[in-house]
Amino acid sequence: MTISGKAKLAGVMGWPIGHSRSPRLHGHWLERYGIDGAYVPLAVAPERAEQAIRALPALGFRGCNVTVPLKEIAFRTVDRLDDTARRMGAVNTIVVHDDGTLEGGNTDGFGFVESLKADRPDWCAERGPAVVVGAGGAARAVVVALLDAGAPEVRLINRTDARAEELATDIGGPITVAPWVSRETALEGAALLVNTTTQGMTGQPPLDLDLRALPVAAVVNDIVYVPLDTPLLAAARRRGNPVVTGIGMLLHQARPGFAAWFGVEPEVTADLARFVLEG
Ligand SMILES: NC(=O)c1ccc[n+]([C@@H]2O[C@H](COP(=O)([O-])OP(=O)(O)OC[C@H]3O[C@@H](n4cnc5c(N)ncnc54)[C@H](OP(=O)(O)O)[C@@H]3O)[C@@H](O)[C@H]2O)c1
Repeated sequence: MTISGKAKLAGVMGWPIGHSRSPRLHGHWLERYGIDGAYVPLAVAPERAEQAIRALPALGFRGCNVTVPLKEIAFRTVDRLDDTARRMGAVNTIVVHDDGTLEGGNTDGFGFVESLKADRPDWCAERGPAVVVGAGGAARAVVVALLDAGAPEVRLINRTDARAEELATDIGGPITVAPWVSRETALEGAALLVNTTTQGMTGQPPLDLDLRALPVAAVVNDIVYVPLDTPLLAAARRRGNPVVTGIGMLLHQARPGFAAWFGVEPEVTADLARFVLEG
């Protein structure tokens, strides 16, 4: 699509950035809604990230997404944080306001819950305890979103127990940390299991978790999306658990940024996942 001299500008900042699916996703929406705009990959080394973020208003950008490993730098650099980003300790969406100030938000948790609701319309957070595996950046977003959605209890398990304890202390609320050595006991009576670790990604071993104690009615969501069908999801499906893949989180987290920069609420359609993954 051709753009004019008045095109609205946004992008995604990360290091490296070549693997990012976001330009393809936002580019698809720009085309679909006939918007005079561009969304570009911005390869920015960590030591120059603060400088690059501060340059957004001068360059006429309406904002950008921020991805690994720059989310914490963005958190420290923006002028204002929304409540969600403050609690998550990381920024993945920056909006440049008319007065040139930068507001940082975090839409990963929103994307996670919207994806669950879209794929499993009968799911609701209040239904029972949620087990979250992992305690990295993605886990923070997922835990905050589950608590905000009304989960009565979040059971956190992580290979490094101390990191799970730290996350629970930082976020607060009804979070229970179960030791990694006896992690399977956390699955008893759970209504949701979420993998937020890197295990199961292409090139990584499967998540080492025996599902025997998990009720078959529990929804199993793996936020890893390469491959889409991870060993965890395959094992869950074999025993009858409903499953949710990770691509929906990626698609839905992009919606608030697109709406803020380009002025249109974009739709996540069934063929969008295929299109984004093909790229
Ligand atoms: N679908 C989406 O939109 C979306 C969004 C964000 C992230 N993600 C995916 O989520 C995953 C995690 O991202 P992140 O940013 O949170 O990464 P991160 O901050 O590096 O955290 C990695 C997590 O994986 C755990 N882990 C690593 N190796 C392990 C092993 N051998 N056994 C058990 N646990 C292990 C780590 O445990 P320790 O604390 O013990 O090291 C930690 O909890 C990635 O696959 C990423 O692609 C998906």
